Amino acid sequence: MKYYSTLLLGLAVACGDDAREPASHVDDDERAPQPFVDLNPDPGVVEVRLAASPGEVEYLAGKPAAVWAYRDAGRADALPTIPGPVLEAKVGDQIIVHFVNELTEETTIHWHGLRVPASQDGALVSQAPVPPGGTFDYAFTALDAGFFWYHPHMHSDVQIERGLYGLIVLRDAFSVPVHEERLLVLDDVKLSADGALDEDTTHMDLMMGRQGNVLLANGQVLPELHTRPGSRERWRLLNSANGRTFNLSLPGLTFLVIGWDGGLLPEPYEAETLLVAPGERYDVVIEVPGDAQDVELVTLSHDSGHHMTTTSSQPLLALVSRGDAAAPIDALPSTWRALEPIDVAAATTLRTLALSEDMMGLRFFINGFAWPEHEHITAATDSVEVWAIDNRSGMDHPFHLHGTFFQVLDSDGVPADSLGWKDTVIVPRSATVRLAIRFDNPGAWMYHCHILEHAERGMMGQVDVQ
Ligand code: C2O
Ligand code: CU
Repeated sequence: MKYYSTLLLGLAVACGDDAREPASHVDDDERAPQPFVDLNPDPGVVEVRLAASPGEVEYLAGKPAAVWAYRDAGRADALPTIPGPVLEAKVGDQIIVHFVNELTEETTIHWHGLRVPASQDGALVSQAPVPPGGTFDYAFTALDAGFFWYHPHMHSDVQIERGLYGLIVLRDAFSVPVHEERLLVLDDVKLSADGALDEDTTHMDLMMGRQGNVLLANGQVLPELHTRPGSRERWRLLNSANGRTFNLSLPGLTFLVIGWDGGLLPEPYEAETLLVAPGERYDVVIEVPGDAQDVELVTLSHDSGHHMTTTSSQPLLALVSRGDAAAPIDALPSTWRALEPIDVAAATTLRTLALSEDMMGLRFFINGFAWPEHEHITAATDSVEVWAIDNRSGMDHPFHLHGTFFQVLDSDGVPADSLGWKDTVIVPRSATVRLAIRFDNPGAWMYHCHILEHAERGMMGQVDVQ
């Protein structure tokens, strides 16, 4: 709490010319996710303490909800927050996370998208669960610049829904000139009228992935963020929801997409809407209009299958543009990131992974097996494989692979928008998405649907890279 008020004070001084808000008002900008305290003075080492703890948040004002969340245990008085503390490091840094489980059930931490040694991946194929009261020290090197996240990898449909997720930003020397950079994690929660998490899990929740009735951006309902007219902003977007795919739009503006899950693209592209499934990230640049027009981020109606179209457009956050115009800023770079396509001519193996479902029995399958029933895939280290993810079910599934990134070749023969690296990709119903994968990281790795109810009910498998 002390840290928080110091921060507010600092910002109040910095914006001293702006007297539009009453003194007691906590501006939503200042509630942005906070970085961990780095306990190690060595500039090449980021060493933090992380606890998973029971806590309380107010999703609805004045109506507290009991949650499970991460807290920065390196700060004496830090409370659990949703999202959890931000892990920030430079490429090349050594990262050490001293984790303590303060929950009443077992958990692990998975570093979604980070290329870590298999023993640090937090999946049950590579790590024993951390018991209540137990600890585990995770250690790995930051290899790739990008936006990632951490979350439990067991009982994930319950644990992540209760609030256990946090953000990771790894940076390198490549900087994009912007006035403001924001980390934005989008989620939905199912709340009862008293503001508590609604624990009543329906057949529909299990079938589609739990659909919340309240949308969140950085754990808040419709936050109001502030900017200056004419600003250029960089938004790093993550979908941490169990089952909802966001169909994002900024009415009147376009997204310039500069990066995907695995970092910057070779070339940005423009998009009117962005379909972001659970687990996926998009790195975008926004040009705020020069005429003090407010901007709203909304999610448009979208059909993920089984005729479960989400209702019309719903707002996620407001970007209020006030005050003097933003100062001039350098143009965006003309060259971005050199990226070579994976040489699929060298692929040793072509595999088909068929996704299917039993909607009455609520079981989800890959090649006919529901995890933990399963035949391991074995791949040679440094081999290239092409995986055809063949969706034979009635809804879309976001397919996620641990341990390495892949390139999307095509979806039903239509080439992908970019060569960019992905670790999670939407496989539309009745479509086949082909991925090029180089297995450069030995160990046992999971792949699964990132609709957590599906993963926990069978749509999961294991590849042994050896
Ligand atoms: Cu984000 Cu295997 O998970
Ligand atoms: Cu699924």
